[in-house]
Amino acid sequence: MKDFQTHFRQALLTWNNEVNRRPMPWKGEKDPYKIWLSEIILQQTRVEQGWNYYKNLVQAFPTIKDLAKAPQTRVFKLWEGLGYYIRCRNLIATAKMIFKEKNGIFPCKYEDILALKGVGPYTAAAISSFAFNLPYAVVDGNVFRVLSRYFGMKIPVDSTEGKKKFRLLAEELLDRENPGTYNQALMDFGAVVCKPKLPLCTSCPLKKKCKAYLKGWVTRLPVKERSVSNKFRCFFYLVVSHSGKLYVRKRTEKDIWANLYEFILIEPASALSLEELKKENDFRKIFGSCRMEIVSVSAPVSQQLTHQTIRGCFVRINIAKPLKTTAYKAIPFNRLSSLPFPKMIARYLLENREYPFER
Ligand code: ADE
Repeated sequence: MKDFQTHFRQALLTWNNEVNRRPMPWKGEKDPYKIWLSEIILQQTRVEQGWNYYKNLVQAFPTIKDLAKAPQTRVFKLWEGLGYYIRCRNLIATAKMIFKEKNGIFPCKYEDILALKGVGPYTAAAISSFAFNLPYAVVDGNVFRVLSRYFGMKIPVDSTEGKKKFRLLAEELLDRENPGTYNQALMDFGAVVCKPKLPLCTSCPLKKKCKAYLKGWVTRLPVKERSVSNKFRCFFYLVVSHSGKLYVRKRTEKDIWANLYEFILIEPASALSLEELKKENDFRKIFGSCRMEIVSVSAPVSQQLTHQTIRGCFVRINIAKPLKTTAYKAIPFNRLSSLPFPKMIARYLLENREYPFER
């Protein structure tokens, strides 16, 4: 076993030195603030997608003080489209906390980094090793995949016992001299060579001792115990305009898209036709006795989130006098572009920016 472990570590580091040319804007970065920013972005986001968000955020807020002092809406606007908006809220809260309570100095101990809002063991290990060269191994889905294949481990990666085994192995494998370089090499190897689909086995420098490759198990590993379910939700967005303004509100519930803005939302329990929607209580309550005219209905659009599919439809409506609602505020068209919206609404606004909302 030790023999395999040594080969794994050495072959990985050689690959990293001689072959790996994966450029990323945060690679080699030593400022813990910027590393933290990149790791929060990369928690649920692919490198290609996170790249420009990272650059824009670093440019807008080059120091933790800049981020701590920024208006929340501005930070959310720069996060727009990235999803998992709780990350953005935690980012702001943590920046403010470090600025106020820690003199603006980012913590340099693993335990203190782990204690930050929104930072779990993976992110804490990444920041500790990249910024401070501390010996903590990163363990996530990519690491499970690489290790399960190379060592031919069939224990489910999502079982309690499996997680423990993989964590122990990952810690044994870590290069304690250069933990940062090793962790980044492992992440890159999982992304570039030992990929989930179509891994590059034939040119893989680890194939000589890779158990999954030698036994033909590559596509069957890693093993998972549970498969996740997917929920379907149907959103009707009423795009109601009056006197050059549109009605929007900030989402505050413990649900998807918290802190983002949206048009008037009707979420029926199941898919409805427009005629059925008009008869819904929630729909009628919005307008009361106010005269309204449906101008157009968009084609449905879909957005896939991790465990749910949102099917959205935009219904453009003109009204004769302002609505009585207190839940939604009428905002001038030209101010909408500074507000953060879920991706499907931002896209709708972009596609309809030339259209006169009222005729
Ligand atoms: N995923 C999480 N952290 C990463 C990093 N530093 N580089 C590439 N992918 C990552």
